[in-house]
Amino acid sequence: MIYELSNPVAKTLLNHLRETKTDALRFRHIVQELSRLLVYEALKTQTLEDQTITTWQGEQKFGFIREADIIFVTILRAGLPMIESVTALFPNASSGFLAMKRDENTHQSILYYDRIPDCKDKTVIIVDPMVATAGSLCDAISLIESKSPKKIISLNIIGSPEGMAILEQKHPNVEVFIAQIDEKLNEYKFIIPGLGDAGDRSYNTLESS
Ligand code: PRP
Repeated sequence: MIYELSNPVAKTLLNHLRETKTDALRFRHIVQELSRLLVYEALKTQTLEDQTITTWQGEQKFGFIREADIIFVTILRAGLPMIESVTALFPNASSGFLAMKRDENTHQSILYYDRIPDCKDKTVIIVDPMVATAGSLCDAISLIESKSPKKIISLNIIGSPEGMAILEQKHPNVEVFIAQIDEKLNEYKFIIPGLGDAGDRSYNTLESS
């Protein structure tokens, strides 16, 4: 299941990310705003659980999402602003981290660090801004699937049709919420028109990476 945001506010924010004059601070800020919009969509049908809280009128029951059942997993480094944003909404959710680097010659992602909590029967929400070849995301999903989660959701900012097709084919049960699916990948597996490399744009490493 792939759901692309159509909200004009989301599209406006996304298109600001394409502007090269958008600096790293604003870039991360927009990524965080879009992450919130994505998580609202992704959890739209989530069941609320009654909890008794103390209100100004005494103890009463109100519905809350069970944060303890949610694990956010990000892929370093471009996913860092996303996980900051979603964990600010759900401070009692757990977080997991994967470090991957896409080899720019082979276009394959290489995993070199993983620290993911017990996923059994949890809803795991992966946050990574870019889905180009989908190699990184597919590797992350396979790793998480081996840990028996109840459900896997992916939140992404921008992707390619090619990457989306691979995701649907390899992981049809994963729910993908994405702000923008662009036109295509170029010969170097960059998203076109795209926004450049989200990690470089977020952390001012355009020259050195
Ligand atoms: C980017 C991005 C994804 C990956 C997408 O990370 O954040 O993780 O590439 O490409 P794929 O779909 O072809 O696998 P990158 O390797 O550039 O690292 P970074 O986050 O440190 O910039």
